[in-house]
Amino acid sequence: DGKIVPWNGPFSKVYSPIKSEPTGESLYEYLGSYPDMDEAAALEALNAACKAYDRGRGLWPTMAVEERIAAVEKFAKLATAQREQIVQLLMWEIGKSRTDAEKEFDRTIEYIYLTVDELKNLERTQSRFVIEKGIIGQIRRTPLGVVLVMGPYNYPFNETYTLVIPALIMGNTVVMKPPRPGVLMHYYLQKAFQEAFPPGVINYVYGKGSVVVPPLMQSGRVNVLAMIGTSRVADSLKKMHPKSNRLKSILGLDAKNPAIILPDADISAAASECITGAFSFNGQRCTAIKIIFVHRSLAEAFLKEFSAKADALKVGLPWEDKVNITPLADENKPKYLQEIVEDALQKGASIQNAHGGIRRDPFYSPTVLYPVNDSMRIYHEEQFGPVVPVVPYNDIEEIFDYLENSKYGQQVSIFGNSPVQIGHLTDQLVNMVSRVNINSQCQRGPDILPFTGRKDSAEGTLSVYDALRSFSIRSVVAAKM
Ligand code: G3H
Repeated sequence: DGKIVPWNGPFSKVYSPIKSEPTGESLYEYLGSYPDMDEAAALEALNAACKAYDRGRGLWPTMAVEERIAAVEKFAKLATAQREQIVQLLMWEIGKSRTDAEKEFDRTIEYIYLTVDELKNLERTQSRFVIEKGIIGQIRRTPLGVVLVMGPYNYPFNETYTLVIPALIMGNTVVMKPPRPGVLMHYYLQKAFQEAFPPGVINYVYGKGSVVVPPLMQSGRVNVLAMIGTSRVADSLKKMHPKSNRLKSILGLDAKNPAIILPDADISAAASECITGAFSFNGQRCTAIKIIFVHRSLAEAFLKEFSAKADALKVGLPWEDKVNITPLADENKPKYLQEIVEDALQKGASIQNAHGGIRRDPFYSPTVLYPVNDSMRIYHEEQFGPVVPVVPYNDIEEIFDYLENSKYGQQVSIFGNSPVQIGHLTDQLVNMVSRVNINSQCQRGPDILPFTGRKDSAEGTLSVYDALRSFSIRSVVAAKM
């Protein structure tokens, strides 16, 4: 509610996944603490958001669009002054390389300015009058109410504020629960929000998700759930809402994106794209390539090239030059990866690259597994880490079967050299997933492109263009002429 509230209750400690010297208390470096808010404090934040929205009559939802734009631009300017602190925390808290951390920050600020441009465009093209059958109607883009935003730990800055900013600029008010890991950097933004926005427009809730989020959902006063995370959490949160059937949800969820290597693919180019697609930020991206289907005729050649490139990836600390593989943000992840690799090995796969399969917490070395089949856990589970299963196929139908049986439907990458064949397959695949990448890796950007998915992968659509529409509805003011 415009105030930075002192917290007299307990705090939770945050440790870095980056080991320096063992501290005795933990192998992980102590970074800082955040307030373990309780139910009452969380509801206070929600009250502030409801009060600022005031059933649509608040200062913020009734404010002229130009003034909301000015607040957002002021925020972007103030946030930019915090760039180095945020970049440092992206490195220390989630182990992101400096290059990727800087990209995450800069991309977010760019997204905010593009959102402003898109809103101006939307106003020009959509806020218009229609005269028809004796009625004069004005079409307006109007807010939805109070939005609960929860970002993910792999893009704690970018995917939090690319939900928060479009929600705010359309006149909604926000309660934001930061991800953990990825919580500390949000402190640096509080002051910027406080200076740029009226009280109550954005309210931060810190603490354990299982304590602070259920009361918000159960209150029935959250109008939109905007979350990037797992479908398991999203489903359980939605069920808590008394009007779960009508709750608007904007969700980016799980994915297991396949790469398909066709018999005529350029092996070297495909291997390079698959390396970036599968191993960027240790494979901790919802859009990562998480399974590769290679036509049996070129499996051997592809594996040779792909495995050599996997072994050439540099494992190191986030600030090291040209580092590719960094400490894993989730401290349970190395153990999980070891388990699914062992499961695949027991069932007949083998590690293809010389340096694969090495667990050295908090690292797990880039690992290529082949031949993987549907009896193995890694064929089905979203590994979200630097382990890539490679599956030989004989007939493209096998991949359509895989996609049909999969819980997910986000993206596919397809590698080949026949425009006719690729065109034909693309027309079919695009009806099964929400993006087909031709001779290129899966990814979300550029941020003007719609970002969504089918089945358990998403609900609603995000992008510079789509988020403004997702966080608003077209309302009409009509009068008889
Ligand atoms: O983790 C999910 C992100 O949306 C991935 O975004 O493809 O830009 O890395 P990205």
